[in-house]
Amino acid sequence: MLEVKNLCKYFGGIHAVEDCSFKVEKGSITALIGPNGAGKTTAFNCISRTMVPTKGEVWLDGERIDRLRPHKITAKGLSRTFQISRNLADMTVLENVICQSRINGWRDLFKPAMSPQEIDKAMGILDFLNITRIAYEDGSNLSYGQKKLMDLAALLMSDPKIILLDEPAGGVNPTLLEEIVGHIRKLNEQGMTVLIVEHNMELIMRLSQRVVVMAAGTVIAEGSPEEVQKDPAVLDAYLGGAMEDAA
Ligand SMILES: Nc1ncnc2c1ncn2[C@@H]1O[C@H](COP(=O)(O)OP(=O)(O)OP(=O)(O)O)[C@@H](O)[C@H]1O
Ligand SMILES: [Mg+2]
Repeated sequence: MLEVKNLCKYFGGIHAVEDCSFKVEKGSITALIGPNGAGKTTAFNCISRTMVPTKGEVWLDGERIDRLRPHKITAKGLSRTFQISRNLADMTVLENVICQSRINGWRDLFKPAMSPQEIDKAMGILDFLNITRIAYEDGSNLSYGQKKLMDLAALLMSDPKIILLDEPAGGVNPTLLEEIVGHIRKLNEQGMTVLIVEHNMELIMRLSQRVVVMAAGTVIAEGSPEEVQKDPAVLDAYLGGAMEDAA
């Protein structure tokens, strides 16, 4: 469904992503892992066109998307969350979910307040995620985990086919983490393709069918969770730590 070909992103002399290629199969939960600074978020930024890639191609469902504007990519069915939750100041959760999901570029500036259809849809999604009780809370008063759920809700507003999650469980307490895992599973069972970046190896190993490992901007290993866990290049990149704990 998604193919990244020879992607590069340079910041001056820093090669954040260097000749990175991988595929995400339709209907899969694929994990993108790697040590801090490996280039995972930068790859996400280039795929969703939050950043313009220096070189390389990104294909979605057989169509090249790396030259499209971000909202066009969302309209084609690819949505992503951000590692740092972006919540709009002085807005309720419901307002955040609706406003963050508006994808028509400058035309949205002329849109009136939330439409009844948007409210209905957003409330349906909050219900799916079991968070209707916080619909009218100020977005800035939420716990870390609740913010992650709000981000997930905003993501679902655009009816994506594939979602890119950047550390959806980062800093989240264990109970809420299980809830988030459950939601990701349920979405996947309903046909959603998922690409997930996460440092929690135990979570990655039990949630994903396929793992792509990045280090220093490029892919160093790919395979089933069991395969990559044993891969010497992967163990080397992590210097033993996180990988051995998960094993
Ligand atoms: N806007 C930027 N300007 C300059 N350098 C950047 C920029 N964004 C990222 N980098 C650098 O690119 C490299 C890759 O960073 P990136 O955030 O993509 O890594 P990551 O794999 O997501 O790491 P983490 O697991 O810590 O989130 C790092 O060396 C980082 O410092
Ligand atoms: Mg990152």
